[in-house]
Amino acid sequence: MSGRKTEIEIMPNWSFRMMAFLFRCRDFICPYIDRRIEQFEIKEGMTVVDYGCGPGRYTTRFARLAGDKGKVYAVDIHKLAIDVVTRKKEKGHLENIEPILANGYDCSLPDHTADIVCALDMFFAIKNPGRFLEELRRITKPDGLLIIDDGHQRRSKTKQKLLNSGYWDIIEETRDHLKCRPRYKQNA
Ligand SMILES: C[S@@+](CC[C@H](N)C(=O)[O-])C[C@H]1O[C@@H](n2cnc3c(N)ncnc32)[C@H](O)[C@@H]1O
Repeated sequence: MSGRKTEIEIMPNWSFRMMAFLFRCRDFICPYIDRRIEQFEIKEGMTVVDYGCGPGRYTTRFARLAGDKGKVYAVDIHKLAIDVVTRKKEKGHLENIEPILANGYDCSLPDHTADIVCALDMFFAIKNPGRFLEELRRITKPDGLLIIDDGHQRRSKTKQKLLNSGYWDIIEETRDHLKCRPRYKQNA
């Protein structure tokens, strides 16, 4: 096993199920996702990557916004996430969703696939932010966008990791998330 693979921690199945249950409760008590994603400016025909999609609470909404001409890749390292999203895809007849099981920090999507990559409530848990952010840049179009949030870490930490990587420029900051553009000039 490579050194990179040992940096990846996949949560136990019981933990994933518990997380999915708690998300369902939270979304029932305090529905905020639809309002939140209005700020993401996802448009019909776009290609969106929901990176670390978990139980797909954002994925299905992205799929409806991107429409038949768009595409949503739901990437996760957990097999249960892929199973749940596949079920939601079938139940909702959302043919534009493609679940992808990542292998470590490699998601196997071609270079420059995405108009928008969303990494929500997951960046704080990434052990090798540099490697992770490099992969996100690889799959994002040169004029594409990364939408990333803090999760369980301070904003200053999120920004520090982004800036230290040299792969992204922060172009907008709200209480909820940061919007970033791929950076290609760090070695210039
Ligand atoms: C807290 S959940 C958030 C799920 C979803 N983004 C949401 O906000 O509802 C974090 C998810 O990120 C996934 N994850 C963690 N590290 C990952 C990695 N390196 N690549 C892809 N997914 C990862 C976990 O398996 C988990 O499903």
